[in-house]
Amino acid sequence: MRKYGKVIRLGVALLLASSLAGCGLVSNGDNQNKEKTAAKDGDKIVIGMSMDTLKEERWQKDRDIFTAKVEELGGEVKVLAANGDDATQMSQAEQLISQGVDVLVVIAHNAEATAPIVEKAHKEGIKVIAYDRLINNADVDYYISFDNVRVGEFQATAVIEQAPKGNIVYIGGADTDNNAHMFKEGAMNILKPLEEKGDIKIVYDQFSKDWKPEEALKNMENALTANNNDVQGVVAANDGTAGGSIQALTAQGMAGKIPVSGQDADLAAVQRIAEGTQLMTVYKPINAIATKAAEMAMAAAKGEEITTEKTVNNGKIDVPSILLDPLAVNKDNLDVLIKDGFHKLEEVYKNVPKDQWPKQ
Ligand code: BGC
Repeated sequence: MRKYGKVIRLGVALLLASSLAGCGLVSNGDNQNKEKTAAKDGDKIVIGMSMDTLKEERWQKDRDIFTAKVEELGGEVKVLAANGDDATQMSQAEQLISQGVDVLVVIAHNAEATAPIVEKAHKEGIKVIAYDRLINNADVDYYISFDNVRVGEFQATAVIEQAPKGNIVYIGGADTDNNAHMFKEGAMNILKPLEEKGDIKIVYDQFSKDWKPEEALKNMENALTANNNDVQGVVAANDGTAGGSIQALTAQGMAGKIPVSGQDADLAAVQRIAEGTQLMTVYKPINAIATKAAEMAMAAAKGEEITTEKTVNNGKIDVPSILLDPLAVNKDNLDVLIKDGFHKLEEVYKNVPKDQWPKQ
């Protein structure tokens, strides 16, 4: 944790910056000459984690694994979650900055509205890592996520394999989340050419506010009503929106009869896959992203260079990025989740008669 006053910090940072500039250790963006000095002052490194929400199951795993890894590396994490509210996320991030965290890890509720957080952190010499969700139009230091376009491609490909002809519904995530746009881009990479060929028709395509299952439910009800239930497949952007969509299908006696995609390998979704009401999910190993992000945060706090092979443009800069691989999971490879320790066999197959459980 930083203990210097602002002026002393600046002085130390300026001195360091002049000696580090030649080694490429001064990061991009507007944090100019203010490099953090945590590793040098021998104090415990503190990482701030500003989260959009802890509502979906995955984010609790992200938080827990990230925290455990930082602690293992000798640091400490302060977590604040904003419950899906931009103003709250902003004030919580300000709180973390004023508490003197060494690095700020942000899971943005809103890709655009979060940009000022980056500026504020940089004014205090704090580097910012965008975790899973990109922050647009800001000098983000690093971005770590999955190949999100690929996620959307997996979803649409799986649905189309089951429903190669007919009416397809797209139930998107939160319009405010950059990822939701990438998932959609990926899905449309698959769906649009098929629509142009005349095989399918995208009869409904809407985002679901704040990724809420109840918004997805409303969307799916609207899609069914508008098409007299003549729908052959549903590309839902994550497991929460898949859950809402399947609820609407259940009400029409259609659950399990048409394919529905998802993402996150949430337990409820994985159980639906085992039962047959959801076709697939996309597994994004949370262990991998949270562990890697913790290592990055600790390295950034020490002023160490972080090697990234890719960059992603966020409208302002090419952000040094690490993009991990997602994996499509359906009934046939659910065992991956069990082998990876993501879920337990008895939880996954809880609602399936025991004689139908896979042999171990
Ligand atoms: C994440 C998904 C998650 C969604 C809702 C997205 O940014 O990439 O894994 O399901 O947010 O929280």
